[in-house]
Amino acid sequence: MQVAFSKPYFRGDEGEAVAATIATGWVAQGPRVREFEAGFAARVGAHDAVATSNCTTALQLALYVSGIGPGDEVIVPSMSFIATANSVWHNGATPVFADVDPLTYNLDPAAAEAAITERTKAIMPVHQLGLPADMDPFLELAERHGLAIVEDAACAIGASYRGRPIGSLGPLACFSLHPRKVITTGEGGMIAVHDPAVAERLRRLRAHSMDVSDLMRHNAKDVVIEAYPERGWNARMTEMQAALGLCQLEALDEILEARRHLARRYTEAIDGIPFLEAPHEPGYAERTWQSYAVRLAPDAPISRTELMRRLLRDGVPTRRGVMAIHEEQAYASSGATLPETEAATRDSLMLPLYAGLSDSEQDHVIGCLAAQLSPVAA
Ligand SMILES: Cc1ncc(COP(=O)(O)O)c(C=O)c1O
Repeated sequence: MQVAFSKPYFRGDEGEAVAATIATGWVAQGPRVREFEAGFAARVGAHDAVATSNCTTALQLALYVSGIGPGDEVIVPSMSFIATANSVWHNGATPVFADVDPLTYNLDPAAAEAAITERTKAIMPVHQLGLPADMDPFLELAERHGLAIVEDAACAIGASYRGRPIGSLGPLACFSLHPRKVITTGEGGMIAVHDPAVAERLRRLRAHSMDVSDLMRHNAKDVVIEAYPERGWNARMTEMQAALGLCQLEALDEILEARRHLARRYTEAIDGIPFLEAPHEPGYAERTWQSYAVRLAPDAPISRTELMRRLLRDGVPTRRGVMAIHEEQAYASSGATLPETEAATRDSLMLPLYAGLSDSEQDHVIGCLAAQLSPVAA
């Protein structure tokens, strides 16, 4: 049996929605994007939401409106996709890596506090793999030190922290709509925003800070000459992406339920497989299960990479656990030493999980894992 590692989930009505959008003649950012933003904001409990070309540009813009620029430091976990750090660098600032909690793999508030210097301007908690970071201590820390908070919520649409949806907590939370995420628009990002003035500025910044949107100009009854009060980006979303995004929002609960079902089955099975540790579930969080990462004990009979290789031969693709950015050549100059991050990155791997993975395919994954780690029982 050949299993896929990840697949986006489509209900079948998406093609029609995208075609209907094309038929209107609006293909670049317009009314559909506005509709998608409103639906997204309502879903995540934010005052507003601003669509972008991807989550990396969303993070860049969110940091920019938080006043982050050259000479500033932003505290980030190293255990994250490299986009987290790159978005800080794109603003001319320096990402400062702090260690993670060894149970949740999310930024540890105490480690973040220890990394604060007089140049620190912001903290960027990442809701890694869709598991909310412990937000109350971060919000309190930011308040106490006068720092900005920008949440990297790339994997976290539909997650909640102490009963409140991710997107409703901090001032700016950035989501990804890449196909490896919970819902997708192909490429795409979204910033959940609470301050209406900041939302309006973000809308301008994503379109080179032009003070007139295409939609406003289209609806104007007189000639409109635009102005550019500040410099900006091109980080716009297309209408076709927004049409797809609206369909995906409708499917979100179905997708989350399917992911929860599969995660429950993995956790039950993994309890009985030696050398494997299922993901920790902190009581404060409802997660999206964007990925299911297991940890291999250091005394396991085979290495993590050898396990991945053997699973691949059995038709089970896996991925290494979340990377450690500071271990990559691109950020070698950080000089960071982060024991929890380094161990977690080395020992973890991700198993196939997506809405649409059948129970029998999942049973195959589980059977192959058991055969490698407890050959007698399997
Ligand atoms: C934690 C995290 N942050 C940011 C990103 C960047 O998202 P995008 O590909 O939409 O720019 C990703 C995507 O993999 C991610 O996992």
